[in-house]
Amino acid sequence: MNDRKKVTVPDLARWRESGRRISMITAYDVVFARIADEAGVDMILVGDSVAMVVLGHDDTLQVTIDDMAHHVAAVARAKPRALVIGDLPWLSYHVSVEETVRNAARLVRAGAGAVKLEGGRKRLPAVQALLDAEIPVMGHLGMTPQSVHALGGFRVQGKELQAARELVEDARALADAGCFAVVLECVPDGVARAVTEAIGVPTIGIGAGRHCDGQVIVWHDVLGFSGPIRKPKFVREYADLESDAAAALARFCADVRSGGYP
Ligand code: KIV
Repeated sequence: MNDRKKVTVPDLARWRESGRRISMITAYDVVFARIADEAGVDMILVGDSVAMVVLGHDDTLQVTIDDMAHHVAAVARAKPRALVIGDLPWLSYHVSVEETVRNAARLVRAGAGAVKLEGGRKRLPAVQALLDAEIPVMGHLGMTPQSVHALGGFRVQGKELQAARELVEDARALADAGCFAVVLECVPDGVARAVTEAIGVPTIGIGAGRHCDGQVIVWHDVLGFSGPIRKPKFVREYADLESDAAAALARFCADVRSGGYP
């Protein structure tokens, strides 16, 4: 049985202090949110990865704040115990701090308890404005998918010494500004360890090794729903539900054709 007490931002700080590892999974609708919650996940990220794993786009740049609010609302309807984090999509926090706050408020009103944005020191004005509006912020550093064109593809970041130092400085700046956690995506283990030791808030890794305070994974990757999308190397598939679903539906089709159903 899950402890039904709602997970809050202060819980995460306490868990980091006590060494309790934190789990986060993406979800985009009420069914996935319900299952994630039943499994006891601590945080549900309504990620802009919805663009790729659900909507079939090649990158995350194709979703808007309207799309994200729609999916956050669907997840929130599950009333999960997990903290729901709404991902701010590309261009929703790049134009002005006023737009940033208004866009983040859309996600909060849809049911998010916090928002996530990508980028380091250059995001400090956005982070500050959100915190001033009492909206908790999660940072995201390393391979930041919204920068896919600037980075030249989805590739590991922070491999060179200078890049690793910049990453640590970015993480320090986000934590000092008041971000309650920082996602580290696709960075070497040693860099993730350096960041985790350098900052006072939880690091949540994805493809960043074992030294983070928690781990996040995309629902479709962990449960075998990736289809033709190439899975990142670090993914451990805990089930192959796409095959199971196809097999179940094949049985339904066969029963319909044979008259066995209904
Ligand atoms: O959108 C997303 O799923 C994410 C995670 C990969 C951290 O940002």
